Amino acid sequence: MGVVVSSATAADREAVVELWQQTGLTRPWNDPGKDFDLAAANVTSTILIAVDDDDLVGAVMVGFDGHRGWVYYLACAPDRQGGGIGRALMGAAEDWLKTVGSPKVQLMVRGDNEAARGFYDALGYELQDVVTIGRRLG
Ligand SMILES: CC(C)(COP(=O)(O)OP(=O)(O)OC[C@H]1O[C@@H](n2cnc3c(N)ncnc32)[C@H](O)[C@@H]1OP(=O)(O)O)[C@@H](O)C(=O)NCCC(=O)NCCS
Repeated sequence: MGVVVSSATAADREAVVELWQQTGLTRPWNDPGKDFDLAAANVTSTILIAVDDDDLVGAVMVGFDGHRGWVYYLACAPDRQGGGIGRALMGAAEDWLKTVGSPKVQLMVRGDNEAARGFYDALGYELQDVVTIGRRLG
């Protein structure tokens, strides 16, 4: 049947978190399980997964803040990278955002993640002249 993209359920949580850890996307100051739960619980966000014959092969978090669509935690299983799964997940994330009325999609890439920057470039994403400013709440 090939790779199928769908919305994650609570049953996918463990495998998704493991994939994010495996692909180097987690950081000590973030709790990926909690991130999964929050995104899954809100109607303005979701987690999309790519599954091949019961195996989780990719995942992405997507959300709409009322103005822009944001993508986080895009990951493809290490042994399946380069096979079009990342592109398929980004396509699904864009479709999800269009459905909820988002006029634009954007994302943050760690500055040293050259491989991901090459990937997004191949998908037509452009570097924007902004800096990201943030502060922890609580
Ligand atoms: C980044 C990532 C999600 C890409 O997924 P993928 O399934 O390997 O990518 P795809 O096979 O769908 O590639 C799509 C296109 O991008 C191109 N591409 C991928 N990486 C590229 C790179 N570093 N430079 C140039 N082009 C690249 C591919 O050649 C392909 O082009 P094509 O469709 O015209 O053939 C995956 O490599 C990954 O999980 N990386 C580790 C986690 C990570 O860094 N995530 C991003 C966080 S911001």
